[in-house]
Amino acid sequence: MKPAFIFGTRPEIIKLVPVIRAFEKRGLKPLLIHTGQHYDYEMSKVFLEELELRGINYHLEVGSGTQAYQTGIAMIKIEEVLMKEDPDVTLVQGDTNTVLAGALASVKLKIPVAHVEAGLRSFDRTMPEEINRILADHASEVLFAPTEEARKNLEREGIIEGVYVVGNTIVDAVFQNSEIAERKSKILEKFGLKPKEYAVLTAHRAENTDSAENLKKLVEIIESLPIPVVYPVHPRTEKRLKDLGLWERLKAKDHVILTKPLGYLDFLKLQKNAKIVLTDSGGIQEESIILSVPCLTLRYNTERPETIKAGGNVLVGLEKERVIHYVERLLNDEEFYSRMANAENPFGDGRSGERMVDILLSLYEKGELRVKSSRFI
Ligand code: UD1
Ligand code: UDP
Repeated sequence: MKPAFIFGTRPEIIKLVPVIRAFEKRGLKPLLIHTGQHYDYEMSKVFLEELELRGINYHLEVGSGTQAYQTGIAMIKIEEVLMKEDPDVTLVQGDTNTVLAGALASVKLKIPVAHVEAGLRSFDRTMPEEINRILADHASEVLFAPTEEARKNLEREGIIEGVYVVGNTIVDAVFQNSEIAERKSKILEKFGLKPKEYAVLTAHRAENTDSAENLKKLVEIIESLPIPVVYPVHPRTEKRLKDLGLWERLKAKDHVILTKPLGYLDFLKLQKNAKIVLTDSGGIQEESIILSVPCLTLRYNTERPETIKAGGNVLVGLEKERVIHYVERLLNDEEFYSRMANAENPFGDGRSGERMVDILLSLYEKGELRVKSSRFI
């Protein structure tokens, strides 16, 4: 079987490496296609190096642009590669423009798509990611849902065939890397931090960065935090903070450590030893519960409701009073803290990648890995 992986951003690399490794364990060498949606060293190459993902077959250098431009150029370039290579299946992960472009280009060439992390829904169609998730799921033949909730979302949209609940490969990634991170990373020493005496914050969602009003609210929250905070800034947010004159304001604060985005080993170590995580990232909401660190999500909805139900995550939005209330509570109420920290990981046992490869190989052997004319027969 000839599998092809299509990816282009930081979280896709992190979450697909475990699946690529599982194929390699079975003696298969997948085709690797990097769209170049993320291209800075800190957003892409550092992960290829740390996770030892060598031998990318195609670098498509799509780069940044508007939604349609980025998706369109990616589709054109992916189609060219797929026509030349004719893989048996393409694998995409998550909800980025790379995923939508890969899924559409592939299914239209009648190459079946396997969607890793299928069925997530924020139920907010104003997010570009929600559109990407829905369309990618409907273009896919094999849907790897991380949880039963994700499976139910697919069922609600009429997708029943080809759905497998396999857990989330973020657990594989965390299990495979957190010990290495603990040993190798010197990030706490670099920033002069002690375990459990600081918070980590990230923010890059369009709804938080594109609106000046919301970005100002975020800055006011950071300024008011009653605990040292490390903030690795996504390039999208760095540009906006600088444009709005907010970067210097944050930099001037003694309790705020602003830094470039970090490599995976440094970020995992920082997260694992943090007292609290504040974020609008999907992957970081997942990692926090796996690493037993309470997470406050700077959004009003989440496509990871399992983390909320389990008790490890609270949607705090961007209202300063609410965010600071929860931070204070976590710092002062031991019972509340320990309840959040001890929430059970809902994303599986760290063998998701292996399971996906077993399923794909078995479908392939039975001749069932193909684009079917209807889902309903
Ligand atoms: C994308 C995904 C988002 C995911 C995130 C992971 C879409 C619609 N969004 O958002 O779901 O959570 O990746 O981090 O696909 N930039 C750089 N250097 C880079 C990459 C980006 O400077 O290497 C800047 C550019 O100004 C670019 C902006 O960041 O315009 C946004 O990048 P883009 O990849 O379009 O979206 P993300 O916000 O990264
Ligand atoms: N991450 C990282 N360095 C950073 C910030 C995040 O390695 O400075 C990792 C993080 O551990 C997680 C992933 O990047 O695995 C999340 O990516 P991001 O927040 O960009 O995207 P999302 O998950 O929201 O799509």
